[in-house]
Amino acid sequence: MGNTSKDKIISPIENKKIVFGVTGGIAAYKAPLIARILKLEGADVYTIMTEAATNFVTPLTMQVLTNRPVYTRMFANNPTGIPLEISHISLADLADLMVIAPATANFIAKMAHGIADDLLSTTVLATQAPIVVCPSMNVNMFENKATQDNLSILRSRGIHILEPDSGELACGWEGKGRLPEPERVVAEVQKILSLDDFSGINILITSGPTSEDIDPIRFITNRSTGKMGAAIVEAACLRGAKVKVITGPVDIQYAPWAKIVEVRSAKEMLKAVQKNITKADVLIMAAAVADYAPASYSKKKIKKGEDLSLKLELSTDILSSIKDNKGRKIFVGFAAETDNISEYGRRKLDEKGLDLIVANMVGRQDTGFESDTNTGIIISSSGIEEGFNDMPKKMLAHTILDCIKERIS
Ligand SMILES: Cc1cc2nc3c(=O)[nH]c(=O)nc-3n(C[C@H](O)[C@H](O)[C@H](O)COP(=O)(O)O)c2cc1C
Repeated sequence: MGNTSKDKIISPIENKKIVFGVTGGIAAYKAPLIARILKLEGADVYTIMTEAATNFVTPLTMQVLTNRPVYTRMFANNPTGIPLEISHISLADLADLMVIAPATANFIAKMAHGIADDLLSTTVLATQAPIVVCPSMNVNMFENKATQDNLSILRSRGIHILEPDSGELACGWEGKGRLPEPERVVAEVQKILSLDDFSGINILITSGPTSEDIDPIRFITNRSTGKMGAAIVEAACLRGAKVKVITGPVDIQYAPWAKIVEVRSAKEMLKAVQKNITKADVLIMAAAVADYAPASYSKKKIKKGEDLSLKLELSTDILSSIKDNKGRKIFVGFAAETDNISEYGRRKLDEKGLDLIVANMVGRQDTGFESDTNTGIIISSSGIEEGFNDMPKKMLAHTILDCIKERIS
């Protein structure tokens, strides 16, 4: 039996050199947060700021957060008066990826026309690394044909454009032009630097709990938060899969690239899986679907004092209902157990005709529902077992995908 290491790299930007360009838009106030998240994810961040950008955020802030000197000038001052290195070439060459956030209308125009009149624009012209541009500006500047034409030019050259969000803008206008939140910018960077080993594969994932209504006020649910499902959704999207997630009610945010189908009850989840299974190459059932639901629903609130004895009925088993659609699809199930996880997991794998089962230990604080880590075992129908101990759910998600990948190829 194998045991997967806790130290495996999970962030696609870990140890990657990111050259982070900051230009002179009001959203430059988000640049320190972006730098911080990039660092937390393990990236080595080199910041270049335009002169205009230094009016909005200080190089010192960026320097402290990235733990590196910040580049602002093409012709750097040093005691000899002679540049020690040609910054724009060395930065262009060392970059695994360049991200410009925010990117002003002016900077986008310069990029589109190959203008190299400062350190950042010259570095962008000199690099062969992938570039992500995050436009941010007033809605009229964004919608102006000049800006739109410039963005089309950049797209046609293979530059990744992260579309701005719509909403209230700093200038007082409403509309499209807001820099997406720092996490979203970093997610885009991660996606571009990720392995694309699931490209062209459709994955259907169920996630979260289900809620079984008793009356308009009360319902039965379980302790699933959707954290494990969300980690698998993110990992699968990053690795290039086309992901659809069918989720019960959760507070969690799923990766921005996934299609989301929201359901409430086990019955709704069953219908949604049945509707979407045909297109899927892989089904991952990470949801904690209620085994039992109230046999009837009261449209009126059941008053205090009335006899409230609940009659429960067994929910239809989702996997059994779609087993005829399986064909060459890969089915992955989850089991939550408090003891004998290997034995119960294997039994469920066989009974449900699964290819893989992730049997989790529940009932302890650092594993299972609500926790950020999991302990358990992955069992495959070919008899291989891989244990995992206190493993972060994000890492476990990649390990599960690795097991699936072995069966696809
Ligand atoms: C307060 C203020 C806010 C600005 N915000 C933006 C902005 O959000 N987006 C933008 O494209 N330009 C904005 N500008 C205009 C740019 O700063 C200006 O075009 C500048 O030349 C950009 O230089 P750079 O592209 O070299 O950084 C703003 C200017 C000021 C004074």
